[in-house]
Order: sequence, then C-alpha cells, then structure tokens
Amino acid sequence: VDLTQYNTMGFTAHAVNYLAIDADDDLAAFFQNNDLQQAHMDCFVLGGGSNLVLTRDVTGAVLHMRQRGIRIMDESSSHIRVAVAAGEVWHHWVMHCIERGWLGLENLALIPGSVGACPVQNIGAYGVEVKDTIDHVKAWDRAQHVWVHLSNAECGFAYRDSVFKKEWLIVSGQPQSRYIITEVVFKLLKDASQWRPKMAYGDVAAMATSLAGSESIQAKHVAQAIIAIRQSKLPDPAVLGNAGSFFKNPIVSVQQLERLKASFPTIPNYPQADASVKIAAGWLVEQAGYKGMRDGAVGVYEKQALVLVHHGGGQGRDLMALAQRISDGVFAKFAVRISPEPIVY
Ligand code: EPU
Repeated sequence: VDLTQYNTMGFTAHAVNYLAIDADDDLAAFFQNNDLQQAHMDCFVLGGGSNLVLTRDVTGAVLHMRQRGIRIMDESSSHIRVAVAAGEVWHHWVMHCIERGWLGLENLALIPGSVGACPVQNIGAYGVEVKDTIDHVKAWDRAQHVWVHLSNAECGFAYRDSVFKKEWLIVSGQPQSRYIITEVVFKLLKDASQWRPKMAYGDVAAMATSLAGSESIQAKHVAQAIIAIRQSKLPDPAVLGNAGSFFKNPIVSVQQLERLKASFPTIPNYPQADASVKIAAGWLVEQAGYKGMRDGAVGVYEKQALVLVHHGGGQGRDLMALAQRISDGVFAKFAVRISPEPIVY
C-alpha cells in the first residue's frame, strides 16, 4: 500500500501489510490470532496522519484506525459524557459539539487529525488543551493483551505529551507504543450559564467579539474566530504538505529566560504554573533567519516559522535534515534546543 495519501506531509512510503480497523473487535482479533501474532507484532498505528513524518517504508503492519461512532454515555443537567471512536475526524467532532451546545472544545476547532490521536500529543491551541475535557481513554494494552480504560490522571498529560508517547514496547528492536487508542470519552459542559469563553490568547477576543456583533459571545463565535486565525497562519495540508507545528515550544527556567532577555528583550514567553517559562519556538526560528526559506522540496512556511512544509517531490529525510539544521541554528544563536513535535518514523 502507498501511504502518500495517508499522511498530511505527503511523503511517499510503502507498507507491505495494511489493515483497516473498522471496529474494536478487528483489533482484538488481530492481536489474538496466534498464527499471525509473531509476524504481525511489528505494528504501526495510523490515524489521520497529520502529526507524522515518514522517512522510510513501514516494515510492520499498518493498523489504520477507521472506527466511527459518537455515543452519549450519560448526562446530568450540567455535563455530558460522550464516547467517540478513534477514527472520527477531529474537526467534525468539534463542530458536532458546537451544534449540540456541548461546550469545551471550541478553541480546538480546525486541528487536523483524528479523535484517536488527540490524547497522544494532548493537542492544544489558543489556551485550551484536550486534557481539560477527557474523562478517560479506551485502549488495547499490547503489554497485557487486554482492553484498558485509562483515567485522565493515568494518561499522564503534559504539554504536547502523554503516557502514549512514553510507554513503549520494543518490537524487532524498534520502540512501539504500548497502547492503541480506540475510543476517547469526553466530559463536556452542557449548562451554558456556567460557560466562560477562553479568549486570552492573541487575537481571539477581538475577533470573537466582532463576530458576535450585538449578541453575547457563544462557543460558535470562539470557534469561528479560531478557524479564521488558523486559516490565516497555518497552511491547509490539502494544499501544502505539513504536520502543524513542527517544533515544540521549549520550556526554560526563569533564570534562563532572564539571561535570554538580556540579549533579546522582546522574546515572547508564557510563564507556566510550575515557575518554568515556555518560549515561542516560532520566534526563535524566525530570528535565526529560517522563516520562509526553502531547500529543494522542503522548507519553512512563510507565515509561521514553526511549520515545516513539503512542496512536493521530496522525502521525509530531507525534512528531517532541514529540521536538524534549524535546530542547530537556533541553538547556536540562543543556546536553547528545540525538538520535533510530530512522530518520526
Ligand atoms: N512567532 C514569530 N514568528 C513566527 C511564528 C510565531 O515571531 O513565525 C511568535 C508570535 O508572534 C507569537 C508567538 O511566536 O508571539 C506565538 O506564535 P503563535 O501564536 O502562532 O503560536 P505558536 O506558539 O507558534 C502554538 C502551538 C500551535 C497552536 C498555537 C495557538 C505548539 C508547538 N504550537 O503555536 O499548535 O495552534 O500555539 O495556541 O505548541 C500544533 O501543535 O501543531 C499547533 C499548530
């Protein structure tokens, strides 16, 4: 199978063995089939392919998570719990919530990818992280060969991180994720009188206010504002290959920030709850001179230096070579190391 259309970077890689997973039972059957177990244990879990850089052919079985379904589990007068299958498209799910008045995901509109992938990197944007809305995650545990429900705490969420990025099985010398997520259960607010828009980030407040006009601001206005901001800054993967932010915003100590500020007083920074400070990697990359640059088939997006792009005809390893150059260039100038956010295979 040619995986080009299954990754938003648009890199070409092949897989000998491809399996569409349309129900949780398909996955359990796959792992319980002992004849196949040995040969198939080398697995590659594919969701929307929007946070992925393929640098080579996939040796193991590609498990393409395509399960659909949105199921209300229970509700009270104020909250609702909804189970969503891994293969649902993230943005469709967000819009589904907005149409029904389920609140909490509006800031995460227009993020590419699937629901099953959202806990892996704890997707976040405009002041909200998905961990704020996750009740628990259903997954196949490859170490114990059982289905598990991981509570929000057990998911170990942090900035662009979770247990799903940390717990590995070693298969044929390669690290593979211990858990395969098949369903995410969200706990969302229903009672609009308890809802407060989160609009502290950037232009969100100004834009949502103007969209609301004489109405009071509703979740749909926040979502519309964020959709407009994202469309103005981030390339549409259908038009230009990319995987969103390529680098994480590095987290430094207050002392380190003070040292940086002495030479670079305008450095954008966001104090964290634990007295560390997140600094804007996009700014570092731009100041180091890489914004909008192009090296053959790959480059840095002209409107957002944190986004690496594939213009077509290139390979994942070209992109990773560019990423290394950028990371080294940033380190040379600022003595801060920026590291990739997507999964690199
Ligand atoms: N900046 C520059 N030059 C650039 C890009 C950014 O100077 O080329 C500066 C901006 O002026 C601003 C600061 O950096 O002061 C932050 O920029 P922006 O608001 O665009 O956000 P970001 O830190 O670059 C993060 C997330 C995005 C998320 C936005 C909004 C990460 C790695 N990225 O980007 O997430 O949408 O905030 O919340 O945390 C993603 O993870 O794929 C992603 C797109």
